Amino acid sequence: MLKGKDILSAAQFSLDELNTIMNTAAHYEKRVKDGDVIRDLEGLLVATLFFEPSTRTRLSFEAAAGRLGAQVISVAEAGSSSAAKGESLPDTVRTVDGYVDVIVIRHPAEGSAQVAADYARNPVINAGDGAGQHPTQALLDIYTIRKEKGALGGQTVAFVGDLKFGRTVHSLAYLMALYRNKMIFVSPPSLRMPADITADLRARGATIEETEDMEEALAASDIVYVTRIQKERFDDLSEYEKVRGSYVIDRAAVERAKPGITVMHPLPRVDEIASDVDDYEGAAYFRQAHNGLYVRMALLALITGRA
Ligand code: NCD
Repeated sequence: MLKGKDILSAAQFSLDELNTIMNTAAHYEKRVKDGDVIRDLEGLLVATLFFEPSTRTRLSFEAAAGRLGAQVISVAEAGSSSAAKGESLPDTVRTVDGYVDVIVIRHPAEGSAQVAADYARNPVINAGDGAGQHPTQALLDIYTIRKEKGALGGQTVAFVGDLKFGRTVHSLAYLMALYRNKMIFVSPPSLRMPADITADLRARGATIEETEDMEEALAASDIVYVTRIQKERFDDLSEYEKVRGSYVIDRAAVERAKPGITVMHPLPRVDEIASDVDDYEGAAYFRQAHNGLYVRMALLALITGRA
């Protein structure tokens, strides 16, 4: 069903496809935990082209490929490929496409993954296109919600922080809408969810509230998804200084929130979740990061037709 497909936006998925991805991820999680040596992608080659910093996304994709028996070639720094010599993205992609079977790309320009897909014959996976989308993060987020909560729908999810530039929330909001969750968008006025996304979500039937009041939102939410203020996307750093530290979730905030609230974050965190939250049992962010391995194994296996 996903064989040969590009993964560009969270808005592209049907419930059926999401179910298949979740079940395939669970299958690989079990096999990895059982210590199986998996060879489903033997003979295949994956390129990871990262023109922006990354720890989890790149390493979990590379770990996923390795655990499936595929091999990886990688551009891990903007300065280390011919992009630094002025080569265009289409030319880089056309070249790499001839070497590998799957291209995973992260790039600072919104829409760059779509450009890559236009020029590549092999499947392209968007690992973050500027302030655009980050669909594989949203997939590991729902895999995490399914594991933590036992269900994907019928809940209230607060999104907190930089909803303007945060690509993870741009993606996850589509999946939360699809599963009929209520969403509360909590941000400073200058970092609200882009109006076109909110309108598109509402047109898809989503229930959305917008507020600046984190405490009130947390009292009503089953899950809080916290984001980092995306400093690198600000043209004017004085604007960043005005909003940095706007929202900090500490243990006291968790105690005042709805009992049992699950705390998620795509990571890296700077100061928006205090370390005294880390040993709260509903603090899911490191489990969330680990889940990325299994979800990315599932994606690689499904789009190559090897699952
Ligand atoms: C996020 C990203 O790169 O968009 N990180 C990630 O992939 N887990 C979030 C962020 O950088 O704040």
